[in-house]
Amino acid sequence: MIKLTPSLLAADLMNLGGEIEAMMKCGVDQLHFDVMDAHFVPNLSFGPSFCRAIHRRFPELKIDAHLMMDNALDYLDAFVGYGASSVTVHEEAFADPGAALRAIHEKGVQAGLSVKPGTPAEALLPYLDQADIILIMTVEPGFGGQKFMPDQVEKIRFLRRAGYRGVIAVDGGVCPDNAALLQQAGANWLVMGTAFFRSPDPQAVARAVEELNEKEGNRQ
Ligand code: DX5
Ligand code: ZN
Repeated sequence: MIKLTPSLLAADLMNLGGEIEAMMKCGVDQLHFDVMDAHFVPNLSFGPSFCRAIHRRFPELKIDAHLMMDNALDYLDAFVGYGASSVTVHEEAFADPGAALRAIHEKGVQAGLSVKPGTPAEALLPYLDQADIILIMTVEPGFGGQKFMPDQVEKIRFLRRAGYRGVIAVDGGVCPDNAALLQQAGANWLVMGTAFFRSPDPQAVARAVEELNEKEGNRQ
């Protein structure tokens, strides 16, 4: 089962409420919320107050916080308190990623661990029992609208071969054209920024993902 998770980064910033409303009308119930600290990645994005504003207006929407930050745990209370339903941190940002996952679980939300393209999938092996979500970056984190890196898809297959049964999310350059490949490799959540919010027909993008699930259902 794959699930579309649009990334707010590509939404029209002058019309965030309208963009999210239109997204939910496409049947989407989860939003990818990128947090950048201008240190772990060379960009700045949204802080906790954006998360609170979205959660207040759309309480039923799941907010999947992707913390591209060096000191992510300092902001854990803020994001969870303001409505994030899952929090994903980066393996590269922690001396002890397992402790970070425990800290997220203690707050009662789903815990995710992400790797940049240069980090081997083997680095995730010690945490497979703990991570509800593994987020595979298919671009260098920091900016939307970059080109998908197909060589990262092998990491998804590796994790499934290693017996990982949790959610595998894929982030960066994901679009309807590579969705079937990602589904076949074993991915579950397809994060789409540009491909969804900048599409002339976002409804068709949501439908394309749904159709992949139907095809999979027919094969079973
Ligand atoms: C990049 C972010 C992504 C970004 C993806 O660092 O983590 O979530 O929004 O954007 P697209 O889908 O445009 O590559
Ligand atoms: Zn992201």
